[in-house]
Amino acid sequence: MSFFQPGPRCAARRKGGIGARMPDNLLLKRDGTRFCVTTPIYYVNDVPHVGHAYTTVAADCLARYKRLKGDEVLFVTGADEHGQKVEKAAKAAGKTPQEFVDGIVARFKDLWTKLNISYDDFVRTTEDRHKKAVTHLWNTINEKGDIYLGAYEDWYCTPCENFLTETQLVNGKCPDCGRIVERLKETSYFFKLSAYGEKILAHIEANPDFIQPVSKRNEITSFLKTGLRDLSVSRTSFSWGIPVPGDPKHVLYVWFDALTNYLTATGYPENNGFWPADVHIIGKDILRFHAVYWPAFLLSADVALPKKIFAHGWWTVEGRKMSKSKGNVVDPNAVIDKYGVDQFRYFLLREVPFGLDGDFSIKALEGRINGDLANDLGNLVSRTVSMIEKYRGGEAGLAINGFDGAMEKDIQGRFGAPDIIYGQFMENLQFHHALDGVWIKIRLLNAYVDKSAPWVLAKNKDEAALSNVLYTLAEGLRIIAVYLYPFMPSSAEKIWDALGVEGCIEDVKFDEAVKWGGLKPGAKVKKTAPLFPRLS
Ligand code: MSP
Repeated sequence: MSFFQPGPRCAARRKGGIGARMPDNLLLKRDGTRFCVTTPIYYVNDVPHVGHAYTTVAADCLARYKRLKGDEVLFVTGADEHGQKVEKAAKAAGKTPQEFVDGIVARFKDLWTKLNISYDDFVRTTEDRHKKAVTHLWNTINEKGDIYLGAYEDWYCTPCENFLTETQLVNGKCPDCGRIVERLKETSYFFKLSAYGEKILAHIEANPDFIQPVSKRNEITSFLKTGLRDLSVSRTSFSWGIPVPGDPKHVLYVWFDALTNYLTATGYPENNGFWPADVHIIGKDILRFHAVYWPAFLLSADVALPKKIFAHGWWTVEGRKMSKSKGNVVDPNAVIDKYGVDQFRYFLLREVPFGLDGDFSIKALEGRINGDLANDLGNLVSRTVSMIEKYRGGEAGLAINGFDGAMEKDIQGRFGAPDIIYGQFMENLQFHHALDGVWIKIRLLNAYVDKSAPWVLAKNKDEAALSNVLYTLAEGLRIIAVYLYPFMPSSAEKIWDALGVEGCIEDVKFDEAVKWGGLKPGAKVKKTAPLFPRLS
């Protein structure tokens, strides 16, 4: 694939890396901190769009950061393959459901490769290990006495795979997606969801970070306070699903099936050491399933709850809701082909505070590319590299001659200690703030080039000062590359290589790597093609 071109030092590792780390990870001795981050498993009734890419890029950014921090990471994504929606889509395509989902899963995996998504595991709900986990969870809950057979009559929204009461409907349609709902009447197994509302509320109160952002936590607490109805957890009207243990006329409700993927990835009913998950990253539309149903199933089965559920906002497209019928669904492949993978990743995480809604517009995307990426970052890299070539024969890391002016001291001070604030922003999934901080540093270096005017120093043969300025720029950029790596891994690696830094950027230890003074004498810069070509 031509979109991601790893530098020579990282190429070998990356080849088998993406999506293939799990076996190695499990063989490692576990003396570090473990961190488990998940994305939703995506419905494979249709090809991926920008919403899927968004959640997955965010999770990838966090996973990459945590690896640099030295954590052992399990980053899980996957495919939600069962349900009526998929069954219908397969039929329309003239395929068996399995053939159909195999084709779409391949499209998702291709996109993740193209987007440099470093997932460790990809759970498919049609896999045996998943069926085993789901069956075990069901049996455990059943033995607890929380499942009973009853009769069901209610409204159902197939696109959302969600049951609705008469009062929840808006003009007789689904309140979430606005589409037509069907009246369903069938015998069904029920889960005693009503028994868990108080317990979940108590958990939220005792763990204020459990649901984020705060506005979303408030939505869930208000919902819980209205009281919960028992939940229908099986269906007989279609067959593409996991059979209910002991009663194969029924298949499991897709959300019972799908949510369990998080346990599948951690080896349930065993625990490979990564459960409870540290964070489930999801979109706001599926918060209730994750923050109410999922904790209730887990509480019933005596399984620990995930530590955090973070619900991000939704993208509109050029100010309008994205939908197939409007024909404005953004295909991430097309955006990457036209603008580049890191440009896309950067835009998604910089444009909108994670947790809020945002608008995807070409004007905004191009503005970010020309402004932040080409003018600020790309320019700084190319200016630095060409000056080092021109004035120092390519040697970036010439030893400092004991001449640190006030400007250099100021920069060292601002870059010097590991950036605690950046770390806090990353831990709290405030990606745009983390990037903001990095751009303050980038702009600081750009202003420094202008103020220190290396071309004047060269003309005046002020060699010591010139060495210091060039070193300061290269070293500042080296640190910036480390900060950028979780967001733009391929560009960060290119900066790393351009500066002639030893080793592969994905192997650095974050806390060490962001300390001033890492660039060693002898490092040789290499001219590279412009990182972010300006768009005209
Ligand atoms: N299969 C379920 C999830 C099961 S997880 C146990 C599902 N799949 S999905 O394919 O419909 O969507 C998954 C994700 O895409 C959700 O997190 C959703 O928020 C996100 N997005 C879909 N459209 C979106 C936007 N327009 N903007 C941002 N994210 C959006 O739900």
